[in-house]
Amino acid sequence: MDERLVNPTSREEDAVVEKSLRPKRLSEYIGQEKVVENLRISIAAAKARGEPLDHILFYGPPGLGKTTLSQIIANEMGVNIRITSGPAIERAGDLAAILTNLKKDDILFIDEVHRLNRAVEEVLYPAMEDFALDIVVGKGPGARSLRLKLPKFTVVGATTRLALLTSPLRDRFGSVLRLEFYSLQAMEQIIRRTAGILGTSIDDDAAQELARRARGTPRIANRILKRVRDFAQVIADNHITRDVARMALERLEIDELGLDPNDRRVLRAIIELFEGGPVGLSTLAAATAEEVDAIEDVYEPYLLQLGFIQRTPRGRIATRRAYEHLGLPYPERSSGDELQATLF
Ligand code: ADE
Repeated sequence: MDERLVNPTSREEDAVVEKSLRPKRLSEYIGQEKVVENLRISIAAAKARGEPLDHILFYGPPGLGKTTLSQIIANEMGVNIRITSGPAIERAGDLAAILTNLKKDDILFIDEVHRLNRAVEEVLYPAMEDFALDIVVGKGPGARSLRLKLPKFTVVGATTRLALLTSPLRDRFGSVLRLEFYSLQAMEQIIRRTAGILGTSIDDDAAQELARRARGTPRIANRILKRVRDFAQVIADNHITRDVARMALERLEIDELGLDPNDRRVLRAIIELFEGGPVGLSTLAAATAEEVDAIEDVYEPYLLQLGFIQRTPRGRIATRRAYEHLGLPYPERSSGDELQATLF
């Protein structure tokens, strides 16, 4: 057993446990059936041809399994994976160094691929398309371009924001796969699986309760489960009943629909500071002291999915459901703003 699993420091513990919770093979993976089926076929076909996989792009909200699936792909293909991210590759030379170190069939995982800068993207295009690295030698009139051959490899890109990808980059991915929020049933299965790995027993109704409140996101489910396990360990013989789960969720201020204090703060800001909206994204970010990216990537997708907010050309508005959830009176809008917003 990994020595750190036996004797971890607390920050390391989270990282090590987190890693051990991730499924390693497609057969262990729960949910995202369409994506999994697509991958199964691509992997089987590439293996049968003895070729590397075509480049793959995953997109969707954070915490749904983009990194996990990339590691699974590497395991299934039996190849090495090199993990990096858009902002980590600052210069064209950084990418050139990574590319020249890849071996045949390796996977290069680039998280937040929409944050690659222009100069780096220019190097990536021929690398993805022709497995070639174009380097300029010398300066001024004597400068020459040299083409270096690279081994065939696979780029797996991940992004929370498909729309921010330049179209030449997007076009170079053979498969573009969208990850969706998980169904309740899948979340419940994931929670039971994680509880098993953590060595905590959990009642079915407790697993259902946690599944309902984990926002369709395994990363959130696993985080909540670890905190609930602490409760169970201290007050309930390491066994999670529905009551224990509820008590822990209450302490964590996670409500019936899985909204945490930050989600509610964003909703309340729209309602209380901007009369329900419309409010522009940057104004909302400033009012809540959040990053624009956090509002768009972390808070909005689930609030949109719940039908609590709507995006309109004039900004975000809170819906009647949002008011009701927060127990606030819904002001009848004379101009029919909400209806109009849906018509844009
Ligand atoms: N842990 C986190 N995500 C998972 C998934 N999709 N399937 C199984 N275990 C998981």
